[in-house]
Amino acid sequence: MKREIRKNYFNKIADNSVSIFIGGDEILENADAVHNFAVNHHFFYLTGINKPKSALVLIKKDGEEKEILFIERNTELLAKWQGARMSVEEAHEVSAIDKKDIKFYDEFEDVLNGLSKGKSGAKYEDLSDYYFTLDNDDEFRQRDLIERLQLKNPQINIKNSFSTVTKLRMVKTESEVKLIRKAITITEEGLNNLMKNAPTATTENELEAYYDFTMKKNDVKVSFHTIAASGANATVLHYHDNNAKLNKEDLILFDLGVRYKEYCSDISRTFPLNGEFIGKKRELYSIVLEANKEAIKMVKTGITMEEINNVVKEILSAGMIKLGYIKEASEISKYYFHGVGHHLGLDVHDVSKRGEKLEVGNIVTIEPGLYIPESNIGIRIEDDILVTKDGYENLSISIIKEIDDIESFMRS
Ligand code: GLY
Ligand code: MN
Ligand code: MN
Repeated sequence: MKREIRKNYFNKIADNSVSIFIGGDEILENADAVHNFAVNHHFFYLTGINKPKSALVLIKKDGEEKEILFIERNTELLAKWQGARMSVEEAHEVSAIDKKDIKFYDEFEDVLNGLSKGKSGAKYEDLSDYYFTLDNDDEFRQRDLIERLQLKNPQINIKNSFSTVTKLRMVKTESEVKLIRKAITITEEGLNNLMKNAPTATTENELEAYYDFTMKKNDVKVSFHTIAASGANATVLHYHDNNAKLNKEDLILFDLGVRYKEYCSDISRTFPLNGEFIGKKRELYSIVLEANKEAIKMVKTGITMEEINNVVKEILSAGMIKLGYIKEASEISKYYFHGVGHHLGLDVHDVSKRGEKLEVGNIVTIEPGLYIPESNIGIRIEDDILVTKDGYENLSISIIKEIDDIESFMRS
Protein backbone atom coordinates (compact mmCIF):
# COMPACT_ATOMS: atom_id res chain seq x y z
CA MET A 1 0.00 0.00 0.00
CA LYS A 2 2.76 2.47 0.96
CA ARG A 3 4.68 1.66 -2.22
CA GLU A 4 1.60 2.53 -4.27
CA ILE A 5 1.15 5.77 -2.38
CA ARG A 6 4.74 6.78 -3.09
CA LYS A 7 4.24 5.82 -6.72
CA ASN A 8 1.26 8.20 -6.86
CA TYR A 9 3.45 10.93 -5.42
CA PHE A 10 6.25 10.27 -7.93
CA ASN A 11 3.69 10.56 -10.72
CA LYS A 12 2.76 14.05 -9.56
CA ILE A 13 6.21 15.60 -9.33
CA ALA A 14 8.70 16.86 -11.89
CA ASP A 15 11.72 14.93 -13.02
CA ASN A 16 15.15 15.81 -11.59
CA SER A 17 13.92 16.45 -8.12
CA VAL A 18 14.60 15.37 -4.59
CA SER A 19 11.75 15.35 -2.06
CA ILE A 20 12.38 15.36 1.64
CA PHE A 21 9.93 14.36 4.37
CA ILE A 22 10.90 14.39 8.02
CA GLY A 23 9.07 12.33 10.65
CA GLY A 24 9.76 14.81 13.44
CA ASP A 25 11.19 14.53 16.88
CA GLU A 26 10.03 14.15 20.44
CA ILE A 27 9.43 17.45 22.18
CA LEU A 28 10.88 17.89 25.64
CA GLU A 29 8.28 18.47 28.37
CA ASN A 30 10.79 18.92 31.19
CA ALA A 31 14.22 17.65 32.22
CA ASP A 32 13.61 13.96 31.77
CA ALA A 33 10.21 13.66 30.11
CA VAL A 34 8.93 14.12 26.59
CA HIS A 35 5.47 14.87 25.21
CA ASN A 36 3.71 12.06 23.38
CA PHE A 37 5.38 11.80 20.00
CA ALA A 38 3.23 13.06 17.14
CA VAL A 39 4.60 11.97 13.77
CA ASN A 40 4.44 14.29 10.78
CA HIS A 41 1.47 12.86 8.88
CA HIS A 42 2.78 13.49 5.37
CA PHE A 43 5.85 11.44 6.29
CA PHE A 44 3.69 8.77 7.94
CA TYR A 45 1.36 8.65 4.94
CA LEU A 46 4.27 7.91 2.62
CA THR A 47 6.08 5.42 4.87
CA GLY A 48 3.85 4.01 7.63
CA ILE A 49 6.74 4.75 10.02
CA ASN A 50 5.65 6.26 13.33
CA LYS A 51 8.99 6.87 15.02
CA PRO A 52 11.00 9.97 15.87
CA LYS A 53 14.24 10.76 14.08
CA SER A 54 13.23 9.35 10.75
CA ALA A 55 13.12 10.82 7.26
CA LEU A 56 12.30 9.92 3.70
CA VAL A 57 14.09 11.09 0.57
CA LEU A 58 12.49 10.48 -2.81
CA ILE A 59 14.65 11.04 -5.86
CA LYS A 60 13.30 11.26 -9.37
CA LYS A 61 16.07 11.44 -11.92
CA ASP A 62 15.74 10.89 -15.66
CA GLY A 63 12.49 9.04 -15.05
CA GLU A 64 14.03 6.71 -12.48
CA GLU A 65 12.72 6.66 -8.95
CA LYS A 66 14.78 6.04 -5.86
CA GLU A 67 13.65 5.93 -2.25
CA ILE A 68 15.85 6.30 0.82
CA LEU A 69 14.48 5.86 4.32
CA PHE A 70 16.33 7.02 7.42
CA ILE A 71 15.59 5.55 10.86
CA GLU A 72 17.15 6.07 14.27
CA ARG A 73 20.25 4.03 14.92
CA ASN A 74 19.91 1.61 17.80
CA THR A 75 22.42 1.90 20.65
CA GLU A 76 22.88 -0.14 23.78
CA LEU A 77 22.12 2.88 25.94
CA LEU A 78 18.86 3.69 24.12
CA ALA A 79 17.82 0.06 24.25
CA LYS A 80 18.36 0.00 28.02
CA TRP A 81 16.56 3.23 28.83
CA GLN A 82 13.80 3.45 26.24
CA GLY A 83 13.66 0.15 24.44
CA ALA A 84 15.28 -1.00 21.22
CA ARG A 85 14.81 1.19 18.13
CA MET A 86 13.14 -0.11 15.02
CA SER A 87 15.35 -2.51 13.07
CA VAL A 88 16.05 -2.22 9.34
CA GLU A 89 14.02 -5.39 8.90
CA GLU A 90 11.00 -3.89 10.72
CA ALA A 91 11.29 -0.61 8.84
CA HIS A 92 11.29 -2.56 5.59
CA GLU A 93 8.19 -4.54 6.65
CA VAL A 94 6.26 -1.36 7.44
CA SER A 95 7.40 0.86 4.58
CA ALA A 96 8.12 -1.63 1.77
CA ILE A 97 11.34 0.26 1.10
CA ASP A 98 14.25 -1.97 0.06
CA LYS A 99 16.52 -2.90 2.97
CA LYS A 100 19.55 -1.69 1.03
CA ASP A 101 17.94 1.77 0.87
CA ILE A 102 17.37 2.08 4.59
CA LYS A 103 20.00 4.18 6.36
CA PHE A 104 20.40 5.85 9.73
CA TYR A 105 19.18 9.31 10.64
CA ASP A 106 22.66 10.45 11.66
CA GLU A 107 23.65 10.01 8.00
CA PHE A 108 20.71 12.01 6.66
CA GLU A 109 22.28 15.41 6.07
CA ASP A 110 25.47 14.00 4.63
CA VAL A 111 23.45 12.00 2.14
CA LEU A 112 21.46 15.09 1.19
CA ASN A 113 24.57 17.17 0.70
CA GLY A 114 26.11 14.39 -1.31
CA LEU A 115 23.09 14.32 -3.58
CA SER A 116 23.37 17.99 -4.48
CA LYS A 117 27.18 18.16 -4.54
CA GLY A 118 27.38 15.38 -7.07
CA LYS A 119 25.34 17.52 -9.44
CA SER A 120 27.30 20.74 -9.23
CA GLY A 121 30.40 19.25 -10.85
CA ALA A 122 30.00 17.29 -14.01
CA LYS A 123 26.42 17.79 -15.04
CA TYR A 124 25.79 21.42 -14.27
CA GLU A 125 23.36 21.66 -17.13
CA ASP A 126 20.89 19.77 -14.95
CA LEU A 127 21.13 22.19 -12.14
CA SER A 128 18.40 24.64 -13.02
CA ASP A 129 15.88 21.82 -13.09
CA TYR A 130 17.18 20.21 -10.00
CA TYR A 131 14.99 21.12 -7.12
CA PHE A 132 14.14 20.03 -3.65
CA THR A 133 10.50 19.81 -2.70
CA LEU A 134 9.86 20.08 0.95
CA ASP A 135 7.14 19.05 3.31
CA ASN A 136 5.14 21.44 5.50
CA ASP A 137 7.45 24.35 6.11
CA ASP A 138 5.78 25.11 9.46
CA GLU A 139 8.31 22.76 11.01
CA PHE A 140 11.13 24.98 12.18
CA ARG A 141 13.61 22.13 12.02
CA GLN A 142 12.81 21.67 8.39
CA ARG A 143 13.17 25.34 7.74
CA ASP A 144 16.59 25.20 9.35
CA LEU A 145 17.46 22.34 7.11
CA ILE A 146 16.16 24.13 4.03
CA GLU A 147 18.25 27.18 4.84
CA ARG A 148 21.37 25.11 5.30
CA LEU A 149 20.72 23.25 2.08
CA GLN A 150 20.07 26.44 0.16
CA LEU A 151 23.22 28.10 1.50
CA LYS A 152 25.37 25.17 0.53
CA ASN A 153 23.62 24.69 -2.80
CA PRO A 154 22.54 28.05 -4.17
CA GLN A 155 21.76 26.37 -7.50
CA ILE A 156 18.82 24.34 -6.18
CA ASN A 157 15.28 25.56 -6.46
CA ILE A 158 13.33 24.75 -3.34
CA LYS A 159 9.59 24.19 -3.58
CA ASN A 160 6.97 23.11 -1.09
CA SER A 161 5.40 19.70 -1.66
CA PHE A 162 2.73 20.12 1.02
CA SER A 163 -0.20 20.57 -1.32
CA THR A 164 0.88 17.71 -3.61
CA VAL A 165 0.67 15.23 -0.73
CA THR A 166 -2.46 16.92 0.60
CA LYS A 167 -4.25 16.21 -2.69
CA LEU A 168 -3.32 12.53 -2.40
CA ARG A 169 -4.30 12.30 1.26
CA MET A 170 -7.77 13.71 0.55
CA VAL A 171 -8.70 10.56 -1.40
CA LYS A 172 -8.70 7.61 0.98
CA THR A 173 -7.70 4.12 -0.12
CA GLU A 174 -9.75 1.11 0.93
CA SER A 175 -7.24 0.25 3.64
CA GLU A 176 -7.47 3.75 5.04
CA VAL A 177 -11.28 3.58 5.08
CA LYS A 178 -11.03 0.29 6.98
CA LEU A 179 -8.91 1.88 9.69
CA ILE A 180 -11.36 4.77 10.08
CA ARG A 181 -14.24 2.28 10.29
CA LYS A 182 -12.41 0.54 13.13
CA ALA A 183 -11.81 3.87 14.91
CA ILE A 184 -15.55 4.58 14.64
CA THR A 185 -16.47 1.14 15.99
CA ILE A 186 -14.36 1.73 19.10
CA THR A 187 -15.88 5.20 19.48
CA GLU A 188 -19.33 3.62 19.40
CA GLU A 189 -18.37 1.12 22.07
CA GLY A 190 -17.05 3.93 24.27
CA LEU A 191 -20.14 6.09 23.73
CA ASN A 192 -22.47 3.23 24.59
CA ASN A 193 -20.44 2.55 27.69
CA LEU A 194 -20.72 6.11 28.92
CA MET A 195 -24.43 6.45 28.05
CA LYS A 196 -25.13 3.29 30.02
CA ASN A 197 -23.49 4.85 33.05
CA ALA A 198 -25.14 8.27 32.77
CA PRO A 199 -27.70 7.61 35.55
CA THR A 200 -25.06 7.15 38.26
CA ALA A 201 -22.37 9.65 37.18
CA THR A 202 -22.14 12.89 39.16
CA THR A 203 -19.64 14.92 37.09
CA GLU A 204 -18.71 15.33 33.43
CA ASN A 205 -15.27 13.78 34.00
CA GLU A 206 -16.75 10.78 35.78
CA LEU A 207 -18.89 10.08 32.74
CA GLU A 208 -15.96 10.71 30.41
CA ALA A 209 -13.96 8.09 32.34
CA TYR A 210 -16.24 5.36 30.95
CA TYR A 211 -15.12 6.42 27.47
CA ASP A 212 -11.47 6.42 28.53
CA PHE A 213 -11.86 2.92 29.93
CA THR A 214 -12.95 1.71 26.49
CA MET A 215 -9.91 3.45 24.94
CA LYS A 216 -7.47 1.73 27.30
CA LYS A 217 -9.18 -1.61 26.87
CA ASN A 218 -8.80 -1.34 23.09
CA ASP A 219 -5.22 -0.06 23.35
CA VAL A 220 -5.97 3.19 21.50
CA LYS A 221 -5.83 6.88 22.30
CA VAL A 222 -8.35 9.65 21.80
CA SER A 223 -7.96 11.55 18.53
CA PHE A 224 -8.46 14.92 20.28
CA HIS A 225 -9.40 16.25 23.73
CA THR A 226 -12.80 14.78 24.50
CA ILE A 227 -15.52 17.39 24.92
CA ALA A 228 -17.86 16.35 27.76
CA ALA A 229 -20.10 19.37 28.08
CA SER A 230 -23.33 19.47 30.05
CA GLY A 231 -25.88 22.29 30.09
CA ALA A 232 -24.49 25.68 29.10
CA ASN A 233 -20.94 24.29 28.85
CA ALA A 234 -22.03 22.72 25.57
CA THR A 235 -22.43 26.19 24.09
CA VAL A 236 -18.63 26.66 24.26
CA LEU A 237 -17.36 24.99 21.10
CA HIS A 238 -13.97 23.83 22.39
CA TYR A 239 -14.92 23.28 26.04
CA HIS A 240 -12.75 20.59 27.57
CA ASP A 241 -12.52 21.36 31.27
CA ASN A 242 -14.99 18.47 31.62
CA ASN A 243 -15.26 18.91 35.38
CA ALA A 244 -18.70 20.35 36.07
CA LYS A 245 -21.22 18.73 38.36
CA LEU A 246 -24.05 17.13 36.41
CA ASN A 247 -27.56 18.45 36.63
CA LYS A 248 -29.88 15.59 35.68
CA GLU A 249 -32.27 17.99 33.91
CA ASP A 250 -29.55 18.95 31.38
CA LEU A 251 -28.49 17.62 28.04
CA ILE A 252 -24.86 16.57 27.71
CA LEU A 253 -22.83 16.90 24.52
CA PHE A 254 -19.99 14.50 23.87
CA ASP A 255 -17.61 15.23 21.00
CA LEU A 256 -15.01 12.50 20.88
CA GLY A 257 -12.92 10.23 18.76
CA VAL A 258 -10.33 7.53 18.54
CA ARG A 259 -6.95 7.41 16.85
CA TYR A 260 -6.57 3.87 15.51
CA LYS A 261 -3.25 3.13 13.81
CA GLU A 262 -3.04 6.92 13.33
CA TYR A 263 -6.46 7.20 11.65
CA CYS A 264 -9.15 9.25 13.38
CA SER A 265 -12.84 9.14 14.10
CA ASP A 266 -14.73 12.28 15.14
CA ILE A 267 -18.25 11.85 16.50
CA SER A 268 -20.65 14.08 18.46
CA ARG A 269 -23.74 12.92 20.26
CA THR A 270 -26.02 14.84 22.62
CA PHE A 271 -28.39 13.15 25.05
CA PRO A 272 -30.49 13.93 28.14
CA LEU A 273 -28.83 12.90 31.40
CA ASN A 274 -32.16 11.69 32.77
CA GLY A 275 -32.84 9.65 29.64
CA GLU A 276 -35.79 11.66 28.31
CA PHE A 277 -35.95 14.45 25.74
CA ILE A 278 -38.52 16.83 27.19
CA GLY A 279 -40.06 20.12 25.97
CA LYS A 280 -37.70 22.63 24.38
CA LYS A 281 -34.79 20.20 24.46
CA ARG A 282 -36.76 17.72 22.39
CA GLU A 283 -37.77 20.40 19.86
CA LEU A 284 -34.26 21.81 19.51
CA TYR A 285 -32.72 18.35 19.24
CA SER A 286 -35.18 17.49 16.47
CA ILE A 287 -34.10 20.56 14.47
CA VAL A 288 -30.40 19.65 14.68
CA LEU A 289 -31.17 16.03 13.87
CA GLU A 290 -33.10 17.06 10.77
CA ALA A 291 -30.19 19.29 9.68
CA ASN A 292 -27.75 16.43 10.28
CA LYS A 293 -29.78 13.93 8.26
CA GLU A 294 -30.58 16.29 5.38
CA ALA A 295 -26.94 17.37 5.15
CA ILE A 296 -25.74 13.76 5.05
CA LYS A 297 -28.16 13.03 2.20
CA MET A 298 -26.56 15.82 0.18
CA VAL A 299 -23.06 14.31 0.30
CA LYS A 300 -21.94 13.27 -3.19
CA THR A 301 -19.22 13.97 -5.71
CA GLY A 302 -19.24 17.48 -7.11
CA ILE A 303 -20.83 19.21 -4.13
CA THR A 304 -18.94 21.56 -1.82
CA MET A 305 -19.12 21.72 1.99
CA GLU A 306 -20.28 25.32 1.62
CA GLU A 307 -23.31 24.23 -0.40
CA ILE A 308 -24.20 21.69 2.28
CA ASN A 309 -23.69 24.29 4.98
CA ASN A 310 -26.12 26.66 3.26
CA VAL A 311 -28.87 24.04 3.47
CA VAL A 312 -27.99 23.34 7.11
CA LYS A 313 -28.37 27.05 7.86
CA GLU A 314 -31.77 27.10 6.14
CA ILE A 315 -33.03 24.16 8.20
CA LEU A 316 -31.67 25.49 11.48
CA SER A 317 -33.01 28.98 10.90
CA ALA A 318 -36.48 27.76 9.86
CA GLY A 319 -36.62 25.73 13.09
CA MET A 320 -35.39 28.56 15.25
CA ILE A 321 -37.87 31.02 13.71
CA LYS A 322 -40.67 28.56 14.47
CA LEU A 323 -39.57 28.27 18.10
CA GLY A 324 -39.35 32.07 18.39
CA TYR A 325 -35.60 32.31 19.06
CA ILE A 326 -35.02 34.44 15.96
CA LYS A 327 -37.13 36.46 13.54
CA GLU A 328 -35.05 36.26 10.38
CA ALA A 329 -32.86 33.57 8.84
CA SER A 330 -29.78 35.83 8.95
CA GLU A 331 -29.89 35.80 12.75
CA ILE A 332 -29.02 32.09 12.84
CA SER A 333 -25.32 32.97 13.17
CA LYS A 334 -26.12 33.83 16.80
CA TYR A 335 -26.83 30.14 17.51
CA TYR A 336 -24.86 28.30 14.81
CA PHE A 337 -21.44 29.73 14.11
CA HIS A 338 -19.16 27.05 12.72
CA GLY A 339 -18.93 25.19 9.43
CA VAL A 340 -20.85 22.00 8.70
CA GLY A 341 -17.76 19.80 8.75
CA HIS A 342 -14.26 19.04 7.59
CA HIS A 343 -12.19 16.27 6.03
CA LEU A 344 -11.17 13.42 8.33
CA GLY A 345 -8.17 11.11 8.11
CA LEU A 346 -4.76 11.04 9.71
CA ASP A 347 -5.66 14.39 11.23
CA VAL A 348 -9.04 15.04 12.84
CA HIS A 349 -9.24 18.22 10.81
CA ASP A 350 -7.54 16.55 7.91
CA VAL A 351 -5.58 18.36 5.24
CA SER A 352 -7.83 19.55 2.43
CA LYS A 353 -8.34 22.23 -0.17
CA ARG A 354 -10.89 24.71 1.03
CA GLY A 355 -13.84 25.15 -1.29
CA GLU A 356 -12.99 22.10 -3.40
CA LYS A 357 -15.79 19.86 -4.70
CA LEU A 358 -16.08 16.48 -2.96
CA GLU A 359 -14.84 13.43 -4.82
CA VAL A 360 -15.00 9.66 -4.38
CA GLY A 361 -12.83 8.55 -1.46
CA ASN A 362 -13.14 11.75 0.57
CA ILE A 363 -14.27 11.31 4.17
CA VAL A 364 -15.93 14.32 5.76
CA THR A 365 -17.73 15.04 8.98
CA ILE A 366 -21.26 16.43 9.02
CA GLU A 367 -21.82 18.23 12.31
CA PRO A 368 -24.56 20.84 12.56
CA GLY A 369 -25.32 22.26 15.98
CA LEU A 370 -27.29 24.83 17.96
CA TYR A 371 -25.78 26.67 20.92
CA ILE A 372 -28.17 28.60 23.15
CA PRO A 373 -26.55 29.90 26.35
CA GLU A 374 -29.74 31.56 27.62
CA SER A 375 -31.46 28.14 27.64
CA ASN A 376 -28.40 26.20 28.96
CA ILE A 377 -28.53 24.07 25.83
CA GLY A 378 -25.86 23.08 23.33
CA ILE A 379 -26.53 20.37 20.77
CA ARG A 380 -24.28 18.94 18.06
CA ILE A 381 -24.77 15.71 16.12
CA GLU A 382 -21.73 14.65 14.12
CA ASP A 383 -21.25 11.72 11.75
CA ASP A 384 -18.36 10.60 9.52
CA ILE A 385 -19.30 10.24 5.87
CA LEU A 386 -17.50 8.55 2.98
CA VAL A 387 -18.08 9.90 -0.52
CA THR A 388 -18.82 6.96 -2.84
CA LYS A 389 -19.46 6.70 -6.54
CA ASP A 390 -23.20 6.43 -5.91
CA GLY A 391 -23.36 9.18 -3.31
CA TYR A 392 -22.26 8.51 0.23
CA GLU A 393 -21.93 5.98 3.00
CA ASN A 394 -22.51 7.04 6.59
CA LEU A 395 -19.66 5.24 8.36
CA SER A 396 -21.13 6.03 11.78
CA ILE A 397 -24.68 4.99 10.93
CA SER A 398 -24.90 2.48 13.77
CA ILE A 399 -24.21 5.06 16.48
CA ILE A 400 -27.70 5.89 17.71
CA LYS A 401 -29.07 9.41 17.35
CA GLU A 402 -32.86 9.09 16.90
CA ILE A 403 -34.80 10.32 19.96
CA ASP A 404 -36.63 7.00 20.41
CA ASP A 405 -33.43 4.98 20.10
CA ILE A 406 -31.57 7.08 22.66
CA GLU A 407 -34.50 7.04 25.10
CA SER A 408 -35.01 3.30 24.88
CA PHE A 409 -31.23 2.63 25.12
CA MET A 410 -31.08 4.70 28.29
CA ARG A 411 -34.18 3.06 29.75
CA SER A 412 -32.72 -0.40 29.32
N1 GLY B 1 -13.90 17.45 17.35
C1 GLY B 1 -13.64 18.62 16.65
C2 GLY B 1 -14.60 18.79 15.58
O1 GLY B 1 -15.69 18.25 15.65
O2 GLY B 1 -14.34 19.39 14.60
MN1 MN C 1 -16.05 16.49 16.67
MN1 MN D 1 -15.53 17.43 13.61
